[in-house]
Amino acid sequence: MSNVTVIGAQWGDEGKGKIVDWLASRADIVVRFQGGHNAGHTLVVGDQTYKLSLLPSGLVRGKMGVIGNGVVVDPEALLAEIDRVSAQGLKVTPETLRIAENVPLILPVHGAIDRAREEARGARKIGTTGRGIGPAYEDKVARRAIRLCDLAEPETLDWKLDELLLHHNTLLAGLGAPTFTKAALLEHMNALAPRVLPYMDTVWDLLDDARRAGRRILFEGAQAVMLDVDHGTYPFVTSSNTIAANAATGSGVGPGTVGFVLGIAKAYSTRVGEGPFPSELHDEMGRTLGTRGHEFGTVTGRPRRCGWFDAMLVRRAVRVGGINGLALTKLDVLDGLPEIKVCVGYELDGKEIRSFPSAPAAQARVTPIYETMEGWTDSTRGARSWADLPAQAIKYVRRIEELVEAPVTLLSTSPERDDTILMRDPFEG
Ligand code: GDP
Ligand code: IMO
Ligand code: MG
Repeated sequence: MSNVTVIGAQWGDEGKGKIVDWLASRADIVVRFQGGHNAGHTLVVGDQTYKLSLLPSGLVRGKMGVIGNGVVVDPEALLAEIDRVSAQGLKVTPETLRIAENVPLILPVHGAIDRAREEARGARKIGTTGRGIGPAYEDKVARRAIRLCDLAEPETLDWKLDELLLHHNTLLAGLGAPTFTKAALLEHMNALAPRVLPYMDTVWDLLDDARRAGRRILFEGAQAVMLDVDHGTYPFVTSSNTIAANAATGSGVGPGTVGFVLGIAKAYSTRVGEGPFPSELHDEMGRTLGTRGHEFGTVTGRPRRCGWFDAMLVRRAVRVGGINGLALTKLDVLDGLPEIKVCVGYELDGKEIRSFPSAPAAQARVTPIYETMEGWTDSTRGARSWADLPAQAIKYVRRIEELVEAPVTLLSTSPERDDTILMRDPFEG
């Protein structure tokens, strides 16, 4: 018996939320270990649709949710999300949700800096969610973050705020944006503290107890390998490590606890925000994928850029992400297409290259090499067994396995929880 870590294998929005919700029935605890409310995970259960940003997706199954130290928490957004899902009938209490005492907080000043910087970048913007994620991670590494445990110590908040504002107000003033007063931030935090502090816990200890007791832990990644701050398409990335190795650092467990790494990949590619996307389609086919796949950002509502499946990038994600098996989602979106292309290589200045380059000008000159496959006419939508799939769809899945050098262990054929085909239980290792 093993634990399972779910990570995105492309640029996010692969359907991690749906898969985590499905797997959560086999787990005892679901742990978020990085990212923040930049994530948007949509879960469809019968006639209810849940949109989660910060809360671990296992809460929908009534499983204990844990927010690890590697996450950045905006307490205001957290409470708003708790109120929103409680109104939908979910039970979120200090019995079902625990948040690491050492989690860094996102304050209004972080969102303000994020947005002011994006505006100043103009055409070179990253296309962030504007939620203060980058500035909050910068503060953590710069050792000036205010952490959840600080909310319980007014004397600590006092000096930490001086240091924080010295830095951020200088930056905001330089960007021509309004600055913040200490009194306003103190009032903000004091108003939220009584509602947030009851969720605070020593997460590393709680998870160690769970592990010793043989309880099954499911680590829920946000974003994806191509948005990883080290391994993604830098600087068009998020500010955390999204790969499975960070499940350990971001929750306070040893690397052996990470268990089976399940990478989630769409049967095609999408990306929100700016940055390189070699297999992007700017034509009618790109728009068709967007319309059929309802490709609009859960958090910002922006249309997602669409393209063919990029086996070069997913194979890289398999390697750097430590992916043991793939869950392939949204196969149904390709139903009825006469032909389907897969990016199987890259060319740079007329020569085939082994991997996507890291330098921006070279990245812009990369052209994809495609392999064309025959499509299928029968529907895969809602299929719940391998036997229900058209032969050509099976061929497509098998070709992807070959190209990315990882087995497809799960298939998803609609947004609905149970429209899922299990080939190999990741909890069995
Ligand atoms: P996440 O960020 O990785 O959790 O993914 P999102 O929830 O942001 O985006 C995935 C979208 O695709 C959601 O609207 C899901 O309901 C939907 N979805 C997930 N799996 C499937 C699938 O197999 N088929 C279709 N058609 N939609 C899916
Ligand atoms: P889930 O978990 C897709 C993208 C933003 C932007 C870049 C940096 O739903 O897959 P940030 O606000 O993090 O500094 O923005 O990362 N981004 C996502 N794209 N899905 C996400 O999360 C994302 N979270 C951040 O669009 O390009
Ligand atoms: Mg999403």
